[in-house]
Amino acid sequence: MKITKICCIGAGYVGGPTMAVIAQKCPHIQVTVVDLNEQRIKDWNDPNTDNIPIYEPGLSEIVAEARNRNLFFSTEVEKAIDEAQVIFISVNTPTKTYGKGKGMAADLKYIELCARQIAKVAKQNKIVVEKSTLPVRTAEAIKSILDNTGNGVQFQILSNPEFLAEGTAVTDLLNPDRILIGGDTTPEGQNAINALVDVYANWVDKDKILTTNVWSSELSKLTANAFLAQRISSINAMSELCEKTGADVTEVARAIGMDSRIGSKFLKASVGFGGSCFQKDILNLVYIAKSYGLNEVADYWEQVIIMNDHQKRRFSNKIVQTLYNTVADKKITFLGWAFKKDTNDTRESAAIYIADDLINEQAKISVYDPKVSRNKMLSDLDYLQTRSNEENSNSLAIFDNAYEACKGSHAIAVLTEWDEFTTYDWKKIYDSMHKPAFLFDGRNILNAKEVEAIGFIYKGIGS
Ligand code: NAD
Ligand code: UGA
Repeated sequence: MKITKICCIGAGYVGGPTMAVIAQKCPHIQVTVVDLNEQRIKDWNDPNTDNIPIYEPGLSEIVAEARNRNLFFSTEVEKAIDEAQVIFISVNTPTKTYGKGKGMAADLKYIELCARQIAKVAKQNKIVVEKSTLPVRTAEAIKSILDNTGNGVQFQILSNPEFLAEGTAVTDLLNPDRILIGGDTTPEGQNAINALVDVYANWVDKDKILTTNVWSSELSKLTANAFLAQRISSINAMSELCEKTGADVTEVARAIGMDSRIGSKFLKASVGFGGSCFQKDILNLVYIAKSYGLNEVADYWEQVIIMNDHQKRRFSNKIVQTLYNTVADKKITFLGWAFKKDTNDTRESAAIYIADDLINEQAKISVYDPKVSRNKMLSDLDYLQTRSNEENSNSLAIFDNAYEACKGSHAIAVLTEWDEFTTYDWKKIYDSMHKPAFLFDGRNILNAKEVEAIGFIYKGIGS
């Protein structure tokens, strides 16, 4: 089957960039991205592509090139489903906040809704692609909904998880390490796999396109995220030991990273990993393991999360202890709120939890982040429901200039590794602060010796 029409349900951090790149690389395919969120679609259609709802380096240029040529953003979900041969499901799969599996399992209500909508609308055979990250064996549930509520239409379910990281989404999509496609081992399943392989083959070498059975593909995605997060928790565990022993975690990371069996990536000690996926996917893995009675497997992976929570708490405790065991009414400035640089995404960002801890200690927090809006920061804090929205807004002052944000503060906490922070005039910032002035580098991006020479009392991760 030659694919000429694709629909993607979900115009978020995955659906938007992924479909923009498919449209750019496959001008012969019409790609329609649909979402229930009208504002989000309106923003994707903003005439000025700098205003699209997701900030990713290089994305606005691709959208400018392909939008309204063969890339469309729409709220007409049913029409797009009806017209497409292939439907990608890229909706969110957050951790459940209610009922069985609360706080652990993935909430699949949005996935089920998509399946029901596809079943209702489809009049011709379709390939349904799981792009969202899903628990292993979800394809079985999707197939059952499609086969039992549909109009006798034949569906093939493929698993094609996305491995892009935010902040580098465009380069990850243009040059992926691999594309993974899982499908049924039947001839129909293989035909569907081949049709999707042909789409990616427009810009990805065939030897990087891996095909497997559906369950391997689904489980590989959770496994990849669990392994990556485990590396961060491992180095963060060592960062605490470094602080006790005088070893330097950056030096330890370099020394072990040069062992080719270990490798150098994902060994950056930090205030803890954030983002919408690592925590939710590992919790989901833990839940799946428990549901099969594999308690040791579950405990093993849960430790990655426990370590991460500990690292965030340890960082806020260190701030309080260093500031003479009280931060009440002290101004503490956060540089960065996003969970990593080059994204406006703040989901599960360590900054939210550090702010929450420090506000509990009655600190006054000032924040500067180059890409995160004021409303987003406040709603992140409100979401924790630790205190009233009014108290949050009284405790958080948000600036659009880092120098202003730092003026008169007792301490600075660097919480996102934005490149611009390394270019600041730190002497000027130091001069504008209360003395002694403290600098807590949650990302180890500043030169400790240089800032200490200015007069800062410097505390990095692992130092
Ligand atoms: P997101 O919240 O940014 O986007 C999901 C979108 O789906 C939202 O705009 C929402 O309105 C829409 N939606 C939900 N239900 C819908 C429905 N029934 N019909 C139409 N639209 C609907 O989420 P995301 O970050 O893009 O993640 C999507 C999936 O991709 C998740 O499973 C996630 O684990 C996975 N993933 C995310 C990343 C990442 O970096 N964010 C990377 C790889 C995989
Ligand atoms: C991660 C994976 O890297 C992607 O492959 C995956 O597709 C995605 O999750 C997903 O499934 O959503 P993402 O969360 O966007 O991508 O960003 P990462 O670069 O993995 O960073 C996650 C967190 O770990 C960030 O807070 C980052 O600062 C932190 N981190 C990363 C460290 O603290 N140290 C490191 O060495 C690397």
